[in-house]
Amino acid sequence: MRWFYLIFILSVCRAAEDFRICSYNVQNFNMQKASNYKLIHTLTRVVSRCDVCLLQHVVDVDGRAVNKLLAVLNRYDDFTYKSVSSQSLGNSPGDMQQYVFIYRTEMVNLTGQHQYSSKQSFVREPFVVQFQSNRTAIKKFVLVPLHSEPSKAVHEIDRLYDVFQEVSKKWNNKNVMFLGDFHASCAYVTRKDRKKIRLFKNSNFSWLIGDKVDTTVTDDTNCAYDRIVVHGEPFLKAIKPFSAQVYNFGKDLKLPQTRVLEVSDHFPIEVRLKGPASTEVRVKGSAPFLIQATPLLLLLLSVIGQFVL
Ligand SMILES: *[C@@H]1O[C@H](CO)[C@@H](O)[C@H](O)[C@H]1NC(C)=O
Ligand SMILES: *[C@@H]1O[C@H](CO)[C@@H](O)[C@H](O)[C@H]1NC(C)=O
Ligand SMILES: *[C@@H]1O[C@H](CO)[C@@H](O)[C@H](O)[C@H]1NC(C)=O
Repeated sequence: MRWFYLIFILSVCRAAEDFRICSYNVQNFNMQKASNYKLIHTLTRVVSRCDVCLLQHVVDVDGRAVNKLLAVLNRYDDFTYKSVSSQSLGNSPGDMQQYVFIYRTEMVNLTGQHQYSSKQSFVREPFVVQFQSNRTAIKKFVLVPLHSEPSKAVHEIDRLYDVFQEVSKKWNNKNVMFLGDFHASCAYVTRKDRKKIRLFKNSNFSWLIGDKVDTTVTDDTNCAYDRIVVHGEPFLKAIKPFSAQVYNFGKDLKLPQTRVLEVSDHFPIEVRLKGPASTEVRVKGSAPFLIQATPLLLLLLSVIGQFVL
């Protein structure tokens, strides 16, 4: 019994060490959606899992819908959430969208923002941000969002390489993550199209969400539209193995599909980063734990367990 207790404490400790980055296409998130109490409650439960959460397809020029979400989030748990939004981006007045990053101020500092500008390359040009955090193995990282135009997906995903070159130079930081609804699957990006995409061809980029994953909600679609890609070995090493996944909150929170679709026809995707490689981390409201000791301890416990059981 005592072992189980110890394992429980250790796993809580390890969970607190992880850092979660999420991406969610919230399909026309506007004031009308933000006024729906149930929807906001669902969205709050989803976003509050994340240390940084990218929302795409936000239609909120005056910021009221995002402020509403922030107000509910800030009442929801002990973290302080803030947001940073792009301008409205797009080609037609009837379809202007924003990228919005929501982040916990206790977990990250926003150290830079940059609106990529090249009308020939993107319909909604990436609004790039840089974060610094003492809670992650990778101390400073850049996030490049993309909600691609479906018919231009191949072209736009390829052009992310140019964004990479610009921002990695600007901030002297090659720890870059790309995330969002790339439409990188089904009819929009085929296997053959990959030859035209530098992010696929160049092996320095790792695609963490696989082609077989279904990031859509309904049963009629089975497509890996939403993706997370990281550049370079340092970033890859800072990723918790096998942590990149779709978050099916319908299943997890036991919500009917109507409640899920109320928010969006996409599911959120997420990835976890390893914690800092320090010997001591203060877990909220508890004593410091010896983090570095846990893998060894767990190994030891598993070995001991074999003898005991
Ligand atoms: C990390 O940052 C948090 C938030 O600013 C701060 O409370 C904490 O003391 C910092 N930890 C270390 C190890 O610097
Ligand atoms: C944010 O920056 C402040 C000032 O440099 C620093 O004390 C704090 O630890 C940083 N927070 C995190 C989470 O790294
Ligand atoms: C991959 O990254 C390494 C280290 O930054 C660099 O030397 C190399 O040229 C890159 N490869 C390609 C194909 O870009």
